[in-house]
Amino acid sequence: MHEARRYQPPEQIRWSEIGDSVVILDQTELPARRVEKELRTVADVEEAIQSLRVRGAPLIGITAAMGIGALARQAVLQAEAASHALDAGELRERLLGWCDRLEQARPTAVNLVWAIERLRRAAGIAEDPDGAAAAGFTEAPGISASESAAELADRLRAEANEILEEDRRMCRGIGEHAAELLRDGSTVITHCNAGALATGGIGTALAPVYVATEQGKKISVYADETRPLLQGSRITAWELGEAGVDVTVIADNMAAALFATDPPDIVFVGSDRIAANGDVANKIGTYSLAVLAKHHGVPFYVLAPTSTVDLGTATGADIPIEQRSADEIRLGFGKLTAPADAPVWSPAFDVTPNGLVAGIVTEQGIHRPPYVDSLAEAVATAEGERAERGSASGIAAKTAEEGR
Ligand code: MRU
Repeated sequence: MHEARRYQPPEQIRWSEIGDSVVILDQTELPARRVEKELRTVADVEEAIQSLRVRGAPLIGITAAMGIGALARQAVLQAEAASHALDAGELRERLLGWCDRLEQARPTAVNLVWAIERLRRAAGIAEDPDGAAAAGFTEAPGISASESAAELADRLRAEANEILEEDRRMCRGIGEHAAELLRDGSTVITHCNAGALATGGIGTALAPVYVATEQGKKISVYADETRPLLQGSRITAWELGEAGVDVTVIADNMAAALFATDPPDIVFVGSDRIAANGDVANKIGTYSLAVLAKHHGVPFYVLAPTSTVDLGTATGADIPIEQRSADEIRLGFGKLTAPADAPVWSPAFDVTPNGLVAGIVTEQGIHRPPYVDSLAEAVATAEGERAERGSASGIAAKTAEEGR
């Protein structure tokens, strides 16, 4: 089999030239226009996450981390310009405020709190036993008590970069493991967008599609449109089309007919949070797809980095589900699509019970039931690797763990 060119995803996010802001690809403009937007304030970062200018669990976490890193650098530069002596303690206080605010931006994607917690740890801010972060500084290997605000800001940006780079590696790992599930000619159905534009790398659910294509396999994808915000038709179809992958869009209510007449070979979806027992929260409509797949004997796989696995959440019933604004249903993209005063129920995510999941693919491999064991092992391995690589937060986490 010939080796095709390595897939290069569109640039989802980058630092501004002097690193005091971040620039994102504004996904609300896709597929009509490719527009960048600069995020300069904590309100900008929060708004971009809440309004889905950036979206997808890993990319939300990356954006918060880079946003906080940029705000820290901005604070240092502004203090220098005003000849104000900003010390690390004061910067740490501000950092706590940014973290607390951004952590609330979207409740379901655990990658958001995971990434923010990494920045807190990189700043030497420890959690108190009740789980609330304290502004106090805790000495840990690699984190010096005597550093300046500028050094602290640099360390935060380095940690945000590490989160981004790690996500890129995790996406590639997921792609390489799950590409083994695809043969030349396979058809895949996916929901929402768990592609490059949901991550810092080549995606999760779409990663094996890109890797298999690189391996010379011909893969076709059905993209569920994904009501109400159309991440499937607007973003998945756009990104696969840009990559030259064969993609067909279907409205969500066509999936059952597709399974009945010309079933896809496999279902690949991403996740916003995977509970310890393998129950999976993902974009609303994922559960219907899982039920359909079960009924038609099609394997249903969830692809996500270990940063999406939340061992602190025992089952899917414990996952907080975001409710979206009624007008996303009543005023679809600015046009009245229901009576203006119609009551609406609009959960952004649903939970697929683990019994419908054939396998969960992380960068550590393909995990099978019982997930309570296989996921715990995957997360432990990932945390060990992180500590070995020596990320500031990884070392701090390990030290905290050993001290317990
Ligand atoms: O509301 P969104 O667009 O952020 O929802 C995204 C999803 O549901 C994705 O499938 C999930 O975040 C996984 S992204 C790799």
